[in-house]
Amino acid sequence: MPSKNELWVFEVDLLLEAIFFRYGYDFRHYSRASLERRVENRLALSDLSSPSEMITKVLHEPAFFELFLKDMSITVTDMFRDPHVFRVIREVVFKQLRTYSRVNIWHAGCATGEEVYSMAIMLHEEGLLKRTRIYATDYNNRSLEVAQQGIYPVEKMQEFTANYHEAGGKGSLADYYQAKYEYAKINDIFNASITFANHNLVKDQVFAQMNLIVCRNVLIYFDQHLQDQVLTLFANSLVHRGYLVLGDKETLALSKVQDEFECVSYEQRIYRKLAKV
Ligand SMILES: C[S@@+](CC[C@H](N)C(=O)[O-])C[C@H]1O[C@@H](n2cnc3c(N)ncnc32)[C@H](O)[C@@H]1O
Repeated sequence: MPSKNELWVFEVDLLLEAIFFRYGYDFRHYSRASLERRVENRLALSDLSSPSEMITKVLHEPAFFELFLKDMSITVTDMFRDPHVFRVIREVVFKQLRTYSRVNIWHAGCATGEEVYSMAIMLHEEGLLKRTRIYATDYNNRSLEVAQQGIYPVEKMQEFTANYHEAGGKGSLADYYQAKYEYAKINDIFNASITFANHNLVKDQVFAQMNLIVCRNVLIYFDQHLQDQVLTLFANSLVHRGYLVLGDKETLALSKVQDEFECVSYEQRIYRKLAKV
């Protein structure tokens, strides 16, 4: 007979299987400690005593599954988050992208879009926006709706403005949004260059012919097996000599694809796919 702890873990396994078979969302290779914490929180909030009680609710109540999905989506993001990373993209990566007539960029796990508009602003300032198509994806439709609207709390703009300047911004961030009451709306000039779409990194296909993939602060939620799977997806989505940018706690080191890349900046987690030999 398994101990309570083992039983609890086993019930979480069953819960994840139930979610996968009922909704097609596969959390079986998400980082276990944080996943179990989220299950525990949801149990407490829902007045349930065990993961197996959650199974019944998840299977029969799609609205309850939506809550679980929300729990599993950490959507924290900012404009020009980690400004030094944007500065190196502007100074080093754009130098190469400038040599191409068409540029494809994929923001995977874009959350509510702040990172995507930051990239669009930099491309605009460097005269690269018109030749660029940005694909911005996430598996969370609620986040994508916010991203598409490009409306953010106005009080965040002060911090975003400081980040923008630290990232090498050439004008004034205020040129790119309209503030009204407590909200700031990003100007429509970027809409034509950005395609927002639902894409689940665990089960969906490659985005072909990308020159740059930005996937920051997403892999930290995955175990090594899933990180390898997703990094392989990125390697297959990039053109030869294409760039990959990860979050500051993420790395290609020890991954399955590490030999397919060279490191452009370890500090900023910027990598470049090697040309095929
Ligand atoms: C912490 S946010 C990162 C946002 C942004 N990249 C940044 O660094 O500021 C993580 C995002 O990854 C998304 N995500 C998690 N698992 C995913 C999956 N399997 N497929 C696509 N997106 C996923 C979440 O919905 C969330 O929006």
